[in-house]
Amino acid sequence: MSSSLTGNNASNSEESATSKQGDCQDGSKDAGNSSVVENHYNSIEERGLGHRNQSTILYLRNFNNWMKSMLIDEYLGQVTSHKKQGLPIKVLDMCCGKGGDLFKWKKGNVNHVVCADIAANAVADCQKRYEDLKSKNKYMFSAEFIVADCTKELLRSKYKDPTVLFDLVSCQFAFHYCFESLNQAETMLHNVADCLRPGGYFIGTIPNAVDIVGRKRKAKQNWFGNRVFTITFEDDLPEPYPLFGAKYNFHLHEVVDCPEFLVHFPTFERLAAKFGLRLIKKARFQNYYEEMKRKGESLLQHMSALETYPPVNGKLVGPRSDYTDAKEYFREFPGQKYIGTLSRSEWEVCTIYIMFAFQKVNPGEVINTSTKKMTNVSC
Ligand SMILES: C[S@@+](CC[C@H](N)C(=O)[O-])C[C@H]1O[C@@H](n2cnc3c(N)ncnc32)[C@H](O)[C@@H]1O
Repeated sequence: MSSSLTGNNASNSEESATSKQGDCQDGSKDAGNSSVVENHYNSIEERGLGHRNQSTILYLRNFNNWMKSMLIDEYLGQVTSHKKQGLPIKVLDMCCGKGGDLFKWKKGNVNHVVCADIAANAVADCQKRYEDLKSKNKYMFSAEFIVADCTKELLRSKYKDPTVLFDLVSCQFAFHYCFESLNQAETMLHNVADCLRPGGYFIGTIPNAVDIVGRKRKAKQNWFGNRVFTITFEDDLPEPYPLFGAKYNFHLHEVVDCPEFLVHFPTFERLAAKFGLRLIKKARFQNYYEEMKRKGESLLQHMSALETYPPVNGKLVGPRSDYTDAKEYFREFPGQKYIGTLSRSEWEVCTIYIMFAFQKVNPGEVINTSTKKMTNVSC
């Protein structure tokens, strides 16, 4: 099966979004959303694999999971290649949720993982999952589990070993929650950098504010979306948008329904620099997919990260109208029998996201954000 993804690339520049945003403003006057987010994630029930396989966003979830696998693999690979053999690899999984990445840490042969999240139920599920993996595997990394608001509490004193040095900090699909206020973003970044070894990496995935603002403008109303997701802005959000507290509601079918905040990336980059974190890579999901698809081809298939078109059992997760690009592909390449794709609705969600990677510099090293050295900046 060949792999092909189809869809539109939003072409809004960072500049067009920044020009609409005001000077650094702290949106802390509206800083009461952590508990809404916490309650939301605490209330998500574990519905099992059977339910997941029926989901209309099955492939989106698998695809996002594949993206995380590739990102983690890329930077754990960097860590491993620079690490003296025998020295333990330690990871902070910030906003770990129910432990969706535990198996990735296992596969990456890490030695210790600290899992932290604001939602106690999610952390309990994560710990259960860990114990389950441990009971089935001869070798398993050690782990600790912390319930904490990573945007408001300092994590170091909660670690079993407060002198721990992490090789990698990972924050997947969650960093945007800290852009509720400047204080929260700073506390989050303090937690990221505090125990990260110089040379270590901070990696993550967040919605792309440029893309969101562009799509909202195109929609000419305060919301946009499709049959699987909606993003809704409040009518009274001032324009230009504040740099912090630019709130919208994200609804993703059966998975998420809570407030999120636009992450103004240049501000994120400048704040991160204050904590000794230099941006080394940033890419839209569609571009990171293009970069990684060869290397991750067998994993794409193994994780069912793309839907086979035409469907082998006659069933697609979306309506036929969501697959016009896939159909078009066969007109262009009539020799092909099957391709891997995503329904248009799922593709419109995953292309909202970007991946990022920062590296911790040596103490005292100055980061000039305007002359940064980046391996790849494709958005
Ligand atoms: C979309 S889930 C992602 C979970 C996990 N990282 C993954 O990729 O599977 C977002 C997670 O962020 C957590 N979260 C949101 N705000 C947080 C905060 N202020 N402190 C710690 N965790 C937070 C939520 O409880 C939720 O588990």
